[in-house]
Amino acid sequence: MRLKYSIIISFICAIMFSQNKEFEPGKEWKDTDGVHINAHGGGILFVDGTYYWYGEHKTEGKGGNTSLVGFSCYSSKDLYNWKNEGIVLKAEENPNSEITKGCIMERPKVIFNEKTKKYLMWFHLELKNQGYNAAKAAVAISDNPKGPFKFYKSYRPNKGVWPMNFKEENKTSSPNEDKLKSWSSEWLTAVNDGMLVRRDFKKGQMSRDMTVYVDENQKAYLIHSSEDNLTLHISELTDDYLDFTEKWARMAPAGHNEAPAIFKKEGIYYMITSGCTGWDPNEARSFSSKSIFGPWKSLGNPCIGEDAGLTFHSQSTYILPIFGKKDQFIFMADRWKPENPIDGSYIWLPITITNEKPVLKWAEKWNLNAFTENQ
Ligand code: DGJ
Repeated sequence: MRLKYSIIISFICAIMFSQNKEFEPGKEWKDTDGVHINAHGGGILFVDGTYYWYGEHKTEGKGGNTSLVGFSCYSSKDLYNWKNEGIVLKAEENPNSEITKGCIMERPKVIFNEKTKKYLMWFHLELKNQGYNAAKAAVAISDNPKGPFKFYKSYRPNKGVWPMNFKEENKTSSPNEDKLKSWSSEWLTAVNDGMLVRRDFKKGQMSRDMTVYVDENQKAYLIHSSEDNLTLHISELTDDYLDFTEKWARMAPAGHNEAPAIFKKEGIYYMITSGCTGWDPNEARSFSSKSIFGPWKSLGNPCIGEDAGLTFHSQSTYILPIFGKKDQFIFMADRWKPENPIDGSYIWLPITITNEKPVLKWAEKWNLNAFTENQ
């Protein structure tokens, strides 16, 4: 009898002590099976009391950043403890599929469409053996947040459509602009004036690092690094969230921004981005605007603390509104490990707004009470 009780008690203790009770940015983060979470470049959707975290399933070794498996999904009720729900969009065996094994699929973001009742997963897609040249946005569909998602279509957005914030005179190329020396001041001015928008006008604009955002009025937007990562584009999605309306705007032209993540507080949109240094970290940037289409005001580096100049060795991926806590948000970022991508870790930090600017303070450990303390 005694033995039976002590077995039950040790079992309960094992469960209690193995539960995560706080966030430890950058540390190994075990799922409910005791395995480090594998959901990189991710985003989160909240559905009926459960958070679903979607991300890139990385593999061991140097090639682990190409998509050999697909996108994973984890679920949680408390944001600390995550259950592995498996692979929800699989890289396909079919060599003719655009998402065949060995392509590159990055930064999945899932949104729910109230009208069609479908879950839409938008992501960055690079075709197999083409490096990062295809620069496409792609979308997959599911009836359930746990998937499976079915690949629907890939796009070069805004084919044959000028941005809303584009001067009439910039619709025509200047002579020899394609001969300008990269990074010279003349070249940067030409980029600013839309040289690369003109270059890609017929083919469709590039889309690499991306996020999607659903506004309070249910309009959704793809925010994507375009023009060889030099300029962000904000492209409105159709009502079914499967295609693009012809409304789009450029943001921070020639500013070289990647990794966009967005939130809205008291009618103001805030965006956090990174610079472009491959898998290496760099200094984050922040912006605010009264309208999603801009004009966006540059607010500088939002990070405070040791290694704030390197975004605490990470790169933004998503900003999570916390359910039931008005105007409280978690900044989510990736600490990439290109030499063994599966070891990449996660930097989650609370966001505060001070003097109308987003602020990210480093913390070794924290929990959701941080929000109540900051109020
Ligand atoms: C940085 C991006 O943010 C990542 O998603 C990935 O595309 C790497 N660059 C590739 O170098």
